[in-house]
Amino acid sequence: MQKEIYLAAGCFWGAEHFFKQIDGVTLTQVGFANGHTDNPTYQEVYTDTTGHAETVRIQYDPLRVGLSFLLQMYFKAVDPTSLNQQGEDRGTRYRTGIYYVDPDDLPFINYAMSEEAKKYGLPLCVEVLPLRNFYPAEEYHQDYLAKNPDGYCHLPVALFEYARNNKDTRTQQKVQQYELLLKQFAAMADGETDTLALMANAAALIYETFHFWWTGFYRVVGEELLLGPFQGPVACMHIGYGKGVCGTAWKENRTLLVPDVEAFPGHIACSAASRSEIVVPVHNGNQVVAVLDIDSQHLATFDACDRHYLEAFVRQLP
Ligand code: SME
Repeated sequence: MQKEIYLAAGCFWGAEHFFKQIDGVTLTQVGFANGHTDNPTYQEVYTDTTGHAETVRIQYDPLRVGLSFLLQMYFKAVDPTSLNQQGEDRGTRYRTGIYYVDPDDLPFINYAMSEEAKKYGLPLCVEVLPLRNFYPAEEYHQDYLAKNPDGYCHLPVALFEYARNNKDTRTQQKVQQYELLLKQFAAMADGETDTLALMANAAALIYETFHFWWTGFYRVVGEELLLGPFQGPVACMHIGYGKGVCGTAWKENRTLLVPDVEAFPGHIACSAASRSEIVVPVHNGNQVVAVLDIDSQHLATFDACDRHYLEAFVRQLP
């Protein structure tokens, strides 16, 4: 599995070199993004009239590095309060920007931005927009600092070392826990045909592994979701189609990741302690028959890594 994010962080020579060092980044490419001209050359972008920003395309393995970690690293490499200037490089082409291709990434980006803004007490100058276009830069700009070790770079060398030495241990540890969880559950599910019994043990197993605030199932019964086996405090028993995170995941028939429940319109607060949530539909054929709902007391607990494993997990239900 691969994901992509496009980050504008000033001069792309140093920025690409920086992101390349991060464990889990599988491909980088420098280019020009979100401008209003087609196929721009470096010289054209250099005139600062094309609207393009020097940008690094970053492909990553979400089972090794999460978007939240990548954004934390991004903020180490930019001054997010500086408009159209990073280091000595000035111009709109050196603006900072986070350009996403997966709309599900937006709440995570907004969360990372608000956390970063708290450090400064100011609104940040970093643009957050969907990626509109990206044109790879000429070949000599790709891997520029690897080809030209003494080449110009606005970033300090120590930052590259920092990127090499810091891994997303939270994601990597989570992967190990999920791998074990899947094996344990596969053993339990082997030969078992009673869905309710397996849901009960699934909730217990996830709770024992991660100690999330609330872990459980809602089953589709008629026109609504009805509370099923769970671990955690008492919860609402009925949820309508399209209501809350659970009813929306059912309606849209897809996993929903909610890094901040307060930012999700219509979220149903069974408990005021819940801050972030993931809801994974359980299928019988193409039909949603239940949802697995997990709540955390912390913000931004669940990401593409959790989605990957929890979707695999519910596929083992009969
Ligand atoms: N928050 C959920 C309701 C279920 S509780 O979290 C257990 C929702 O918005 O659907």
